[in-house]
Amino acid sequence: MAIVTSKEMFKKAYEGGYAIGAFNVNNMEIVQGITEAAAEVRAPLILQVSAGARKYAKHVYLMKLIEAAIEDTGLPICVHLDHGEDFEVCKSCIDGGFTSVMIDGSKHSFEDNIKLTKQVVEYAHDRGVTVEGELGRLAGVEDDVNVSEEDSSYTRPEEVEEFVSRTGVDSLAIAIGTSHGAFKFKPGQKPELRFDILKDIERRLPGFPIVLHGASSVIPEYVEIINKNGGNLADAIGIPEEMLREAARSAVCKINIDSDLRLAMTAGIRRHFAENPTHFDPRQYLTPGRANIRALVKAKLVNVLGCDGKA
Ligand code: G3H
Ligand code: 13P
Ligand code: ZN
Repeated sequence: MAIVTSKEMFKKAYEGGYAIGAFNVNNMEIVQGITEAAAEVRAPLILQVSAGARKYAKHVYLMKLIEAAIEDTGLPICVHLDHGEDFEVCKSCIDGGFTSVMIDGSKHSFEDNIKLTKQVVEYAHDRGVTVEGELGRLAGVEDDVNVSEEDSSYTRPEEVEEFVSRTGVDSLAIAIGTSHGAFKFKPGQKPELRFDILKDIERRLPGFPIVLHGASSVIPEYVEIINKNGGNLADAIGIPEEMLREAARSAVCKINIDSDLRLAMTAGIRRHFAENPTHFDPRQYLTPGRANIRALVKAKLVNVLGCDGKA
């Protein structure tokens, strides 16, 4: 099994009423935890790499780790650039073997977003690589971007047809109320996603794959373990799982998860240190971190995304 594009995955996911999990990877333990879980339940996978991940681990290390995971598990895996901010980073990932890239032009004007996205699509499609674009702005924090709540905005359904036809993108990330990071809603605020906007987009773009960013559930159990073992994550709140299940049954074919991986790994490591203050071998504390990622991803694939048995 080689690295694959997301094209066939999305087609089957759309028709089958499930979604593919797109998990962010930064090191070996994260790659292993995710891919071992997917292999166990035979789920197709997207492993995605941010600019920050490339800076931290280097492109070549991440690429080789993913190739090793494919050899080890025999799974179809798509390797995707998460939040590419300009043509150069997309080109570098396409030239470096990724099968999918995101060009995130959402901070630009509609016309500039189209121009930039089209440039990436032309380069990518000539090389058999698929492209995700974005319309609308999610709130939240990533390594290189911090979008305040006032600057965030829902996707305007009336823009999607023109954006897709003029750019030629293969999938579209939309903003319907999800956000990046572990603090998605204020305490006491009722978590809400604009399914009416999703439905409108789905109607305007029949058969077209939609992507949901900022889709971690921020599982309370992991937050509690972190806080009980020296952490301080007050009021961490995510997207309720039933909303993600509803999204997965719709035109949403790709659901992005990073914060939940970070929380699961941190919970495993913090608890390990609290229970074993004399340990200093990274293998000792990374083992429970990796095991938590595996358990988390398996539960997502089966209970939330519904993509188990589809690989
Ligand atoms: O959407 C952002 C992802 O969680 C990646 O985050 O830029 O900190 O690697 P990062
Ligand atoms: P979370 O922060 O909700 O995990 O979102 C991750 C994401 O959208 C990566 O692109
Ligand atoms: Zn994102």
